Amino acid sequence: MTAQPVFFSTTEPTPPIAFDGPAEYPAEVLASLTAESDEIVARYPESRSALLPLLHLVQSEDGYLTRAGIGFCADRLRLTTAQVAAVATFYSMYRREPTGEYLVGVCTNTLCAVMGGDRILADLSELLGVAPGETTPDGSITLEHVECNAACDHAPVVMVNWEFFDSQTPESAARIVADLRSGRPPAPSRGTPSLCTFRQTARLLAGLAEQPGARP
Ligand code: FES
Repeated sequence: MTAQPVFFSTTEPTPPIAFDGPAEYPAEVLASLTAESDEIVARYPESRSALLPLLHLVQSEDGYLTRAGIGFCADRLRLTTAQVAAVATFYSMYRREPTGEYLVGVCTNTLCAVMGGDRILADLSELLGVAPGETTPDGSITLEHVECNAACDHAPVVMVNWEFFDSQTPESAARIVADLRSGRPPAPSRGTPSLCTFRQTARLLAGLAEQPGARP
């Protein structure tokens, strides 16, 4: 029997990319963002090349990408909001929902999954009372599943604000979130000796100091 071809409809409209949150920044926030974006843009021969760090900058302000953040990047770099949105939605590090103080990602790709990643994600979801993609009511933890982080030799891997916690078990992952919620963030397995909050991490990714006014 010959397999029947599968046709995909091209008549269904694609839903528009939408961002929420405030549409504008207060004047003092706008002034601060403008000054810091000047510093970032000056590092690039073409201003539009600064889009990725600027998206991290506005994410550090709001905890996610808001309408105000998208509009700020577009105005600052003389791009359209559609161009900014197209880039912002391509990379999973840019978030479209409010994010907790710590973004806890559990790798559930093949190797991590078979080594226990699926169990860790399910147990953390039950422990925190949130589904993957959701944030705890106290705003401390956003739980998500993440794709392979090229750390398969340390599977299963948990990421906190994109820092590695290697070779986890359901019990050790539960201890990580308990420490985070009690204000004693644990040290990652490698790289930095201490964890930053989500917004501080976004500032570092923008190429700035963790805190406004500090030295990078
Ligand atoms: S499968 Fe988890 S880091 Fe590669």
